[in-house]
Amino acid sequence: MADATDEQPDRGGEVIKVASLSKSYGERLAVDNISFTIGKGEIVGFLGPNGAGKTTTMRAITGYLIPTEGEIWVADCNIRKDPLKARQHIGYLPETIPLYTEMTTRAYLGFAGKLRGLDSKVAQRRIDEVVEVCQLEEYLDVLTGKLSKGFRQRVGLAQAIIHDPEVLILDEPTVGIDPLQVVQTKAMIKELGRKRTILLSTHILPEVSLICERVIIINQGKIVAEDNIDNLSKILNTRKQLRLRVNGPSDQVRESLSKIEMLLDVSYHEPHHLLEFERDQEPQAEVNQVLAKEGWTLLSMEEVEMSLEEIFVKLTKAAEVEA
Ligand SMILES: Nc1ncnc2c1ncn2[C@@H]1O[C@H](COP(=O)(O)OP(=O)(O)OP(=O)(O)O)[C@@H](O)[C@H]1O
Ligand SMILES: [Mg+2]
Repeated sequence: MADATDEQPDRGGEVIKVASLSKSYGERLAVDNISFTIGKGEIVGFLGPNGAGKTTTMRAITGYLIPTEGEIWVADCNIRKDPLKARQHIGYLPETIPLYTEMTTRAYLGFAGKLRGLDSKVAQRRIDEVVEVCQLEEYLDVLTGKLSKGFRQRVGLAQAIIHDPEVLILDEPTVGIDPLQVVQTKAMIKELGRKRTILLSTHILPEVSLICERVIIINQGKIVAEDNIDNLSKILNTRKQLRLRVNGPSDQVRESLSKIEMLLDVSYHEPHHLLEFERDQEPQAEVNQVLAKEGWTLLSMEEVEMSLEEIFVKLTKAAEVEA
C-alpha cells in the first residue's frame, strides 16, 4: 500500500481492508481467516450470533488487539505498522464504554479530546458540535455515572467522533436502549454516515436493513455471507414458499398436502401451513385440487418471501452443520 501523502489519496474507494485475519485466544480460534473490504462512505452491518467474533474483529480493526494472523489497513495505514496514524482516522464505540463515572459529560468529552491530541480551542468547538449531533445539550453537566444506558451510549458515540474521524467502528450501538431511543440513535448513525465510512455490529436484523446498505454475516469466526440486503434475500430465496389457511384438521391437511409430488417441505405454524417448492414450480392448482378432494375450504393462499431473520438463521445453521 502506498503512503497517504496526498490530502485525498486515491484508495480505489477502499477505506477498510481486512486481509486473512485470524485471532486465537489460547486454543480457541475466535476469528478464522476472514477477509473483507469496506468502501468509502459505506455503512456496513456486521451480524452474527453471540460469540461469532464480531467484537474481536472490531478490536483488531481499531488496533486494540493484535491479530494472530493477517493484516488490516484503515485509510491506507497499516494498523500493525502504523497504529497511531491509523487510529487518527478511526472513531470507536466499544462494546463496553469506558466512562469515568465521576466526570460530567462535558469533562469526559474534554478528556476524550485531549486523548486525541486536540488543542483546547479545537476541542471546545468539537465538543459543541458532537453535543449537538448526539443531542446531549441537557446532559452536559450531569455525571456520566448518573446517565441512563441510552444516554451513556450517546456519550460513547460523542467521544467516538470527537476528532472528526472518517471511519467509525460501532460495536452494538443500540444494545439495551429503548425503542424510542433506538429510532433516534439510528437516525444519528445515518446522519454520521453521510460523510463517513461505518462498520456497525448488531444482533437486530430489521435494524440493519434500515441503516445499512450491505451486511457481512459472521458465524463461528468465519464469514458466511456478504452482500447487499436485497441480493441476500434473492440469493437465498431459491425456494417458493406458499402460506395457506385451510378450514380443516391441521394434521390431516398436512398429511394430504405432503402427497403433492413437487413439494419439498410442509410445516404447520398455527394458523398457517407453510409449503416449500422449487422457485420455478407452479403448484397452486394442485394444492387447490388436493384440498377440494377432501372437502376442505382454502381460506387463503399467498406466496411469502423469507424474512431477514429466517435468512440469518438459515445461514448460521448451515454453517454449523458444515463445521
Ligand atoms: N479475551 C478473551 N479471552 C478468551 N476468549 C475470548 C476473549 N474474547 C473473546 N473470546 C472468545 O472469542 C469468541 C468470539 O468472541 P467475540 O466477543 O468476538 O464475539 P461477538 O461476536 O462479539 O459476540 P457477542 O455478540 O456476544 O458480543 C468467543 O468464543 C469468546 O468466548
Ligand atoms: Mg461482541
